[in-house]
Amino acid sequence: MAQSVIDRTAEKLELFGKVRELAKTKNVVILTHIYQRLEVQRVADYVGDSLMLSKQARETDAEIIAFCGVHFMAETAKLLSPEKKVLLPDIQSGCPMADMINVDDLRAFKKDHPGAPVVCYVNSSAAVKAESDICCTSTNAVDIVKSLNSSEVIFVPDKGLGEWVQYKLPEKKLHIYDGFCPTHWQITSAEVDKQRINYPEAVIIAHPECDPEVWRRADFVGSTSEIYKFVEESAGRKFIILSEQGLVARIQADFPEKDIATVFPLPLCPNMKYHSLENLYDAIDQEYTEIIIPEEILIPAKATIDRMLEISNQKQIWAGPNR
Ligand code: 13P
Ligand code: SF4
Repeated sequence: MAQSVIDRTAEKLELFGKVRELAKTKNVVILTHIYQRLEVQRVADYVGDSLMLSKQARETDAEIIAFCGVHFMAETAKLLSPEKKVLLPDIQSGCPMADMINVDDLRAFKKDHPGAPVVCYVNSSAAVKAESDICCTSTNAVDIVKSLNSSEVIFVPDKGLGEWVQYKLPEKKLHIYDGFCPTHWQITSAEVDKQRINYPEAVIIAHPECDPEVWRRADFVGSTSEIYKFVEESAGRKFIILSEQGLVARIQADFPEKDIATVFPLPLCPNMKYHSLENLYDAIDQEYTEIIIPEEILIPAKATIDRMLEISNQKQIWAGPNR
């Protein structure tokens, strides 16, 4: 029994070395989202949240980008770096929230609210981005909506984040689409109340993709990068993080001196766990699955992201060299 554990570890280490070597030989940069398995994070050149990784994709000299995240993230990297080859090791890795709205749904929603500009969360397809006026991430959503010269705004597809922006900007009227993140919505307000009683000294931190009933109970609400930064900079020792397991694991690994708890069940995004050292190796070797975006979608979708980048100059928090 003990022997087989040692053998598997040795195999993993060998595979880790092979992935690194192949990436170097083929001039591939590996970009990995923080929700990925830790082994896929460790082998990456850069680890970060979706926007930071896209910016990294734009800046890299590598000819090929292996993107270990969900489909819309790899698409966003392609939109920002159309001349590069972007690979998604496992094509099943989609985002159910992004899939809750398509172009026809958005056109119908726009008809209900004529004249209102459309802000789309980055968790959306390139086609939906092409049909929107400006993109946002969970880090900059409030600033983006605030910047618009309109009292009414359409916000798609995430109702958790949309309600958070509405709460922060009561002077605006947001028309919020009915999409949501099935992972973050696994967290219930009853569980948060229970943890508050169990750990009265803990600081409760929530991602805005949670059910508003959940984030209303938190002491701090922030995006993936803001949650990481908050824990890093906060003097508090006990934190309860209401977000995905990958972020919690990474924070626990990076800050062993802090006491990090979460809730039960621990929310896990299965779509983020498809990539592995095995399929990453094969994807780089055989150059699959390439993200292709037709030009009639690529050009307007890119403009939607570029408008966001003009307004929001996001700081990089951990999209730095990983080794
Ligand atoms: P980030 O944009 O913070 O990386 O998050 C994307 C996501 O899917 C969160 O659930
Ligand atoms: Fe999509 Fe939610 Fe998974 Fe993020 S955690 S990729 S929003 S399903």
